[in-house]
Amino acid sequence: MQVLVLNGVNLDTLARRDPSVYGGVSLNELETKIYEWAQALGISARCRQSNSEGEYIEWIHDAYDNVDALIVNPGAWSHYSYAIRDALELAEVPIVEVHLSNIEDREDWRRVSVIADVVSRRVIGKGPEGYREALEFLSGQEVAA
Ligand code: DQA
Repeated sequence: MQVLVLNGVNLDTLARRDPSVYGGVSLNELETKIYEWAQALGISARCRQSNSEGEYIEWIHDAYDNVDALIVNPGAWSHYSYAIRDALELAEVPIVEVHLSNIEDREDWRRVSVIADVVSRRVIGKGPEGYREALEFLSGQEVAA
């Protein structure tokens, strides 16, 4: 199973963000963990991060015919990017939405996720471990022939 993990805007600054909210890891450390968890589950993972919405959307388009599943944390784009939502809607593979922080227990504007209705599963507020949960969920999914 090939899984593409797409972290979005500002997730490259994780190490500088409030550790009580975001878990205190750097993006590099997070991606290292994701690769270890994926390997233990027999999943082939590729992690990417961008601050460019257009680039992020291009990666989703590339994924349509090339991966078996997506894990997405679009960061703040989750709350308003209908463009990312529309791109994800066309993916015919399982998608897991992950947020390190508990967006449902923060500011009102963070409670809205415009991608929530096009994903198979949401993992929210579990810190870096949320990506492990997402990988575990996907490892139980069938891979299309
Ligand atoms: C985030 C939550 C978003 O509200 C925020 O803008 C982020 C990270 C999270 O992982 O908790 O950048 O997606």
